[in-house]
Amino acid sequence: MTVTPQTATRLTMATDKAIAEAGAALRAGKLVAFPTETVYGLGANALDDYAVSAIFAAKQRPRFNPLIVHVHNQEEAEEIVRFTPQATKLAEAFWPGGLTLVLPRRQPSPLALLVSAGLDTAAIRAPAHPIARALVEAAGVPIAAPSANLSGHLSPTTAEAVAEELDGRVEMILDGGPSLVGIESTIIGFEGTRAVLLRRGAIAREAIEEVSGPLHLPKWDHIQAPGMMASHYAPRARLRLNANEAQAGEVLLAFGPGAPPALHACNLSPGGDLREAAANLFAMLRRLDKLGPRTIAVMPIPDRGLGEAINDRLARAAAPREAPP
Ligand code: TXA
Ligand code: MG
Repeated sequence: MTVTPQTATRLTMATDKAIAEAGAALRAGKLVAFPTETVYGLGANALDDYAVSAIFAAKQRPRFNPLIVHVHNQEEAEEIVRFTPQATKLAEAFWPGGLTLVLPRRQPSPLALLVSAGLDTAAIRAPAHPIARALVEAAGVPIAAPSANLSGHLSPTTAEAVAEELDGRVEMILDGGPSLVGIESTIIGFEGTRAVLLRRGAIAREAIEEVSGPLHLPKWDHIQAPGMMASHYAPRARLRLNANEAQAGEVLLAFGPGAPPALHACNLSPGGDLREAAANLFAMLRRLDKLGPRTIAVMPIPDRGLGEAINDRLARAAAPREAPP
């Protein structure tokens, strides 16, 4: 599906003036893409259903999936969702930062219904990135923001990558340089007193479990979040996982020292550092994907710490594509 671009997108450095203008644009119901420490977000006023609906149109999301709401701190979050002592403990340990909590909406709640896509819960996080924080303050409202890419594509970790995805579909793109974590937030929900790992991400499971105790895996009847679909984060190229070398015609996504030679290669972390690898993941997949429709051979990534989130994204990028609805 191609849609004619409708807006002259302004890509600008995130100066104080630009942030103030972006805040005003959000209040006026427009879309603003902005940096966070995890990935770039496509933001709208989370209190305005009409503004939030523009996110789905811009991303060409096939259905209304629930979105993450960005706030300054727990106090602001308490205005729209109800915290349990367990959720408070997690927020105290990891906010601001890459942890999203799924909590019951207050009844009534000022939050747009579309943010929750019909659920009685909302996903919420306080980002650490100073520009994201300044934007929440400038907007004066919570900001609903999924990753700033077209539905099913790789998440963007630079302003240029956002522009490639959303030029003509968003009012402003605030450039704050590359996202330092580079992988989306970890999402935790609750079933009674059980903390449930809904999406692996920026904060390693082990770190969260030190605070929450053992995390549970979601039951099957749980909401099918887009980040939980088998094929997601899909580059155009095919991926071959756990490769030890690049075969003829393949490009290589390497990890660690001693990567084998390849015609085209990117190394997620020559030193074998999983945090560096997470930060490079989406940008390097994008770079290799631009070389054309070939196969990206991906070296094995240790399945610990941020490696769990990296392997989750790689498995989805490698999965057979679902037929469009
Ligand atoms: O790091 C991040 O989380 C980035 C930045 C921009 O903050 N945002 C992001 O949003 O990754 P998005 O839309 O790509 O992913 C949001 C995920 C989806 O998988 C969605 O289904 C899940 O959060 N989610 C949102 N609300 C939920 C709810 N009420 N219950 C269960 N899952 C929910
Ligand atoms: Mg996304």
